[in-house]
Amino acid sequence: MSKRKVTLSSEVGSVSLHSAVMTASGTAGYGDELADYGDLSELGALVTKSLSLDPWAGNAAPRVTEVDAGMLNSVGLQGPGVAAWLESGLPAAQQAGARVVASIWGTSVASYGAASAALAGQDLLAIEINVSCPNVEDRSAMFGHSATQTARVVEACKGAIPIWVKLSPNVADLISIAQAAVEAGADALVCTNTLLGMALHPQTGKPVLGNGGGGLSGPSVHPVAVRAVFECRKALPNTPIIGAGGVNSGKTALEFLHAGAQAVQVGTASFRDPRAPWKVAKDLERALRRAGHASVQDAIGQAHR
Ligand SMILES: Cc1cc2nc3c(=O)[nH]c(=O)nc-3n(C[C@H](O)[C@H](O)[C@H](O)COP(=O)(O)O)c2cc1C
Repeated sequence: MSKRKVTLSSEVGSVSLHSAVMTASGTAGYGDELADYGDLSELGALVTKSLSLDPWAGNAAPRVTEVDAGMLNSVGLQGPGVAAWLESGLPAAQQAGARVVASIWGTSVASYGAASAALAGQDLLAIEINVSCPNVEDRSAMFGHSATQTARVVEACKGAIPIWVKLSPNVADLISIAQAAVEAGADALVCTNTLLGMALHPQTGKPVLGNGGGGLSGPSVHPVAVRAVFECRKALPNTPIIGAGGVNSGKTALEFLHAGAQAVQVGTASFRDPRAPWKVAKDLERALRRAGHASVQDAIGQAHR
């Protein structure tokens, strides 16, 4: 097979990425945690673990467990808060050469807005909004399970930095929520966050995770996320999409591009091998070549043509 050069660069709306492969929130730390495993400047972006305005303690241990074809987590969004991250995490990431996307979360529309406002003026590629969080003003219903609440969060977060909205797959009508996010001003969609799941201990019969249930990720969620990307691309052909869920190879990354994504995120695979984001990028070059594509651009949306 000829070794034609393939280019991994891509564009997510106004954001130019030199690689279509980035990290997924919550799986690559806040700063330079992965720098011992690869050159952060080679990644399309480092997406931070979700940050709230104030520090947050997270859930009871155990917080992660392995299941067939993936893992379950209930970390519960533990984090240092935006101000502390701006002092140490962001500078560490930038010194290591990373181009950074800050993921944020909140417990109310106003707290999302405050977290976003606290990031104004920073050198960030984008703010990724994690809407898979309970709304204390709406009986703890997940923001991301409601088109109206998702739109309110986007409106509260809009500013000069591009806004990416990370959709929850745990909904009956993903497209109405995606549309609401875009109409409210989202610049891109990330498909998707984890699926709700639970593991029970074989002897005690009790939940393995300290919080009871958790979020399922890894190879088992990949086809769910591919379908979400495909459906969003079909309904919103002009909206940039980032695929997340079970990316662990060039093949799985390429599948997201074919479904209509402009870029992909590597999450759970990094727990097995912290070099996974770099390995996926190398393997994506091979997969693109094998499929006869000269670039990421050539592959995007192939399933719709
Ligand atoms: C341990 C762990 C922590 C995570 N934390 C976050 C988080 O803070 N914010 C978020 O938006 N997604 C979080 N996620 C979801 C991932 O970013 C990703 O959307 C999901 O795991 C699917 O991708 P994957 O199968 O490649 O892991 C987390 C996932 C894992 C496994």
